[in-house]
Amino acid sequence: MPTPHESATQNEDANIAALKELLRIPSVSTQDAYRADIRRAAGWIHERLTAIGFLVEIHETPRHPVVVGRWTGAGSDAPTLLIYGHYDVQPPDPVEEWVTPPFEPDLRDGSLYARGASDDKGQLFVHIAAIEAILAADGTLPVNVTFVVEGEEEIGSPNLGSFVRNHADLLAADAALVSDTHIRGLDYPTIVYSLRGLLYTQLDVSGPRGDLHSGHYGGAIHNPAQALTEIIASMHDEDGAVAVPGFYDAVLPLQDDERADIARIPYSEDTLLDETGAPAAWGEPEYSVSERIGGRPTLEVNGLISGYTEPGAKTVLPAQAMAKISCRLVANQDPDTIFELVRRHIETVAPPTVRWELTKIAAGKAALTDRNAPVVQAAVRAYQEHWGTRPDFVREGGSIPVVAVLQDTLGVPVVLMGFGLPDDNLHAPNEKFSLECFRRGVATSIGFIQQIGSIRS
Ligand code: BES
Ligand code: MN
Ligand code: MN
Repeated sequence: MPTPHESATQNEDANIAALKELLRIPSVSTQDAYRADIRRAAGWIHERLTAIGFLVEIHETPRHPVVVGRWTGAGSDAPTLLIYGHYDVQPPDPVEEWVTPPFEPDLRDGSLYARGASDDKGQLFVHIAAIEAILAADGTLPVNVTFVVEGEEEIGSPNLGSFVRNHADLLAADAALVSDTHIRGLDYPTIVYSLRGLLYTQLDVSGPRGDLHSGHYGGAIHNPAQALTEIIASMHDEDGAVAVPGFYDAVLPLQDDERADIARIPYSEDTLLDETGAPAAWGEPEYSVSERIGGRPTLEVNGLISGYTEPGAKTVLPAQAMAKISCRLVANQDPDTIFELVRRHIETVAPPTVRWELTKIAAGKAALTDRNAPVVQAAVRAYQEHWGTRPDFVREGGSIPVVAVLQDTLGVPVVLMGFGLPDDNLHAPNEKFSLECFRRGVATSIGFIQQIGSIRS
């Protein structure tokens, strides 16, 4: 009989072929044109989990379905592991910058290139492959396993909070495992223990009934594009701190011992400039760049549109201007409260010469996980065994809304077991997932599951 690791190795080609099938489905959650593909992706997960012995149901939500698959063969005395992943992906634009088409997975230079390869279809599939290998080798698992796979992560998981609350019994578990983050490098495994929250808004500013001749009216009508940028400019001070009153009130200060931990991680301003190509770093001077990204909240303009933007000149005073403004939040900040603070700030600074409206588009809370939880320590050992060195704990600037939901609603410890690399091009052209990460990921998942048969929360 093969061991689980041998079985995973034997199955690798078949598994990569299966993952390619899933990657061919353009399950873009934010655009309605892809609705049928979203459903096909949910159906694909249903089929695959069924094939490895899970009992699977597709649950409808007001938008995209949640797939729940359960394997209860370890018996009611054994603990249950909840594995979360998302089958939806970001839009592939700009498509012309892809070397090969985003939904035609291409294996080159040791990586699989496709939208969703790393975020999150490939990382989710790691655990499907690991469980399949353990079942093939041992005929059983040391724990019960529940998969919960959603299709709305990339739009802020708007329906997952109520889904988890309404299905708390179905999803009850002793620990949760999420692979939707990255490590620092193949020789530098890391476990994320902090994720930022997110508040995403749209600010519309309008003035005259329609666009005006800028010569005929300019100087006598407040230009909405200018008014919008004046409002935006009022949201930061000269040091880069957010100037919305009350914004930092709930923020828990970084403790000295944690700042010392963060300082030990080799991520300098030069690394940041190398990674991004920006000419200089920016932000709150009293914090290092790692602290700014991992431990401090922000307010960002994600998009800005108004007036004439085509080639050449058109003298126009635009009637409208719009900005997408989001805040990354840290633990203890409440997205709804922050929305209210931003609204009040705009109320204070917006001039009476324009009308404005602020709309909430998405919200999710930040999360901190317990580094000392026995399951997290089991993950440390599993990485150590398969990546040749002990993982460091790191704070991450991105957001995964489900993590706080699982902690708050189900009360389970969450393990953020990432297998992506920093240059996987998430949300960008030429997204990829390295085969070596896939291989080691499967081995790590097997090692982790084999250890947790006695863990109870
Ligand atoms: N997997 C990412 C989050 C992530 C990326 C964590 C890299 C760690 C490292 C997730 O799919 C994502 O993109 N989240 C969005 C959140 C959202 C509410 C749309 C984000 O962070 O922008
Ligand atoms: Mn993701
Ligand atoms: Mn994403």
